Amino acid sequence: MVKICCIGAGYVGGPTMAVIALKCPDIEVVVVDIFEPRIIAWNSDHLPIYEPGLDDVVKQCRGKNLFFSTDVEKHVAEADIVFVSVNTPTKTQGLGAGKAADLTYWESAARMIADVSKTDKIVVEKSTVPVKTAEAIEKILTHNSKGINFQILSNPEFLAEGTAIKDLFNPDRVLIGGRETPEGQKAIHALKDVYAHWVPVEQIICTNLWSAELSKLAANAFLAQRISSVNAMSALCEATGADVSQVSHAIGKDTRIGSKFLNASVGFGGSCFQKDILNLVYICECNGLPEVASYWKQVIQVNEYQKTRFVNRVVSSMFNTISGKKIAILGFAFKKDTGDTRETPAIGVCQGLLGDKAMLRIYDPQVSQEQIQRDLSMQKSELDRPPHLQPASPTAIKQVACVWDAYEAAKGAHGICILTEWDEFKTLDYQKIYDDMQKPAFVFDGRNVVDAEKLREIGFIVYSIGKPLDSWLKDMPAVA
Ligand code: UDX
Ligand code: UDX
Ligand code: ADP
Repeated sequence: MVKICCIGAGYVGGPTMAVIALKCPDIEVVVVDIFEPRIIAWNSDHLPIYEPGLDDVVKQCRGKNLFFSTDVEKHVAEADIVFVSVNTPTKTQGLGAGKAADLTYWESAARMIADVSKTDKIVVEKSTVPVKTAEAIEKILTHNSKGINFQILSNPEFLAEGTAIKDLFNPDRVLIGGRETPEGQKAIHALKDVYAHWVPVEQIICTNLWSAELSKLAANAFLAQRISSVNAMSALCEATGADVSQVSHAIGKDTRIGSKFLNASVGFGGSCFQKDILNLVYICECNGLPEVASYWKQVIQVNEYQKTRFVNRVVSSMFNTISGKKIAILGFAFKKDTGDTRETPAIGVCQGLLGDKAMLRIYDPQVSQEQIQRDLSMQKSELDRPPHLQPASPTAIKQVACVWDAYEAAKGAHGICILTEWDEFKTLDYQKIYDDMQKPAFVFDGRNVVDAEKLREIGFIVYSIGKPLDSWLKDMPAVA
């Protein structure tokens, strides 16, 4: 029986390994992590991450051929294939600070693999890492190998949160990069055999190591660029009276452009886009390509601009002051169907509103009060660390209250900001909400989920991203 061990039981490692276990009953899969509470949760009825369909998959194979453990060294030693899916935050200090990936956790995982291995192993990069990381890891492994043969593969994961199980069951493609030597090709085939249990072989792309590593950064950069492009258009739409949804629909019909990933929003978030673009920018700069670096940097700048623009719109519509005003925040996760808040635009928007002394009442169906308080009060560099290295409970911000219902959040509020596109926000009883709010009552829809016309009929003043402004907002222009 082939044995797989995955180091890192997070958003990528957990669901990916659960699906491998489900689809490959002849393979034993153990997911290990040094953070014990996370492993305890994976072994319980309350999994540490919210992901539609994940519970079912885990229940079907946990205890059969899927295991979660803190005994990292034992399971790495026993495995034929070791996936590494540990944190790779952006460096906060030293050379490349703010851009380069911090490979501390990767390196310590690699050294541990070298230490405990007694048999040949295939080591698979699963977390997104800078191009040429495989080479560095290979060096660590071979210089500490005691005669053991390590083959490094890059097998980037393309799942999106919220649809992870669907994406894993039915991936657009699986990408495997490896050395062009006979041993490298053998390792590629071994991993290909795993995926071939359920993925059609023509969808499994095999490349050299560098192409696989760069493809992951490139895919995320292209996706993020589409959002910044449509968000840049949204600003122009507001200025000209065009409607960004109509523009997206019209351009998306061009098969060369395509209709997906063209929804204007308050900005993109998530653990990958910004981090991977910063990484790409750093690699370009290191390779003497400043023009290419600045091209990609602009994608992040437009994303920051979009969040600032949103906050400015809120403040300017409310007579340029929100000091002491109650604002309901509906949605805090970086997208719907996940409880993940890494890089969520809600953090920047809430901090902007708090900077203008607003009182926030926040509701998200999947994010805990503790997480929201951590996100708003902790430094980003602290949040990026693995959970066992994060500070204990931070001091709660008094201007922020977290509630467990959208109606409760909006009660007595001057305005509502919708920051995540949760389906339930489309079908709220907005008449009831309006009746309980201060007047004039505002809705700032950062995800274009509500029917603005219906809300206007009720009496709301509505701002939707990239849509023609109603007369109130035209009279109160936002200054950037
Ligand atoms: C992304 C990539 O899609 C995935 O392939 C990669 O493996 C990891 O990074 P993820 O961050 O989980 O996945 O979610 P994604 O659906 O890509 O959304 C990212 C952000 O973009 C979210 O904040 C989302 O709300 C925003 N978004 C997405 C938009 O604002 N508009 C869109 O049209 C699409
Ligand atoms: C373009 C638009 O495609 C068309 O819809 C619009 O009506 C007019 O502008 P055109 O300029 O005639 O059409 O040709 P197009 O095929 O788009 O190519 C434009 C340029 O891009 C060419 O120089 C072409 O060589 C180049 N190109 C195109 C690339 O370098 N790489 C590609 O992948 C595609
Ligand atoms: P991703 O979104 O890429 O899956 P996460 O941050 O969700 O990333 O998960 C990474 C996991 O890796 C965390 O649970 C962290 O505790 C774990 N981890 C980090 N370093 C190590 C290590 N050296 N050994 C085992 N687990 C590790």
